[in-house]
Amino acid sequence: MLLDEATWKEIESYLADSRAIVMPIGSVEQHGPMGLMGTDAMCAEVIARRAGELGGFLVGPTLALGMAQSHLAFPGTISLKPSTLMAVVQDVVSSLSNSGFEQIVFLNGHGGNIATVMTAFGEIHAHRSVQQDPDNLELALKSWFDLPGIRKLLADMYPSGHGSHATPSEIAITQHIFPHTTKHAELDPQTAPDGGFSDAHDFRRRYPDGRKGADSSLANPEDGAKLLEAAAKALVQEMTKYSKN
Ligand code: NI
Repeated sequence: MLLDEATWKEIESYLADSRAIVMPIGSVEQHGPMGLMGTDAMCAEVIARRAGELGGFLVGPTLALGMAQSHLAFPGTISLKPSTLMAVVQDVVSSLSNSGFEQIVFLNGHGGNIATVMTAFGEIHAHRSVQQDPDNLELALKSWFDLPGIRKLLADMYPSGHGSHATPSEIAITQHIFPHTTKHAELDPQTAPDGGFSDAHDFRRRYPDGRKGADSSLANPEDGAKLLEAAAKALVQEMTKYSKN
């Protein structure tokens, strides 16, 4: 069930049976010459929704904007500062907790969100840990590409050229879900350089077309379908840890 498409009565009934919710979280940022600005949010959303269908759990609205400062030197990128994203996560968690949700799982599509979201969890726990009578609250952040079995699948699917940004896997998922958005581009070099960076300007200097370590042209919608299904099943498996009341 999707929270957006439910009434408060339906949410109340759901809470009588389960206290778990999945919140997709992404980013709007450049993804090289072939990847869509919304790739990370799209991937998190479709995987969470498919898993919700398979596993029968509630999926909240996608937090489409994330912490994307390293991509700000490319037009179209929209980034929340770490402090802003932390405040968003804290407010989302307190709202859901106030409704009675006790297991809040953020399904993430963007590596750049991880440090900030985990720090937000730390702030929430630090506050709750000194309360006299805290209620139960479990917070989790799961990046779809780190779900059990997915790294192995990626390594098998892309023995080389997967990289870490504008990856063929994330682009494949968007090609599968939104075929009309598929882009074609000449890539030079075919596989982008990889390594570190400091700020957004340094990122653009080192990775001029926006890709990092990736050959985005390896993406195809058939692999996207397999990845979506595998990640959704892996998330369903993870969600079985959250027992029903
Ligand atoms: Ni991405």
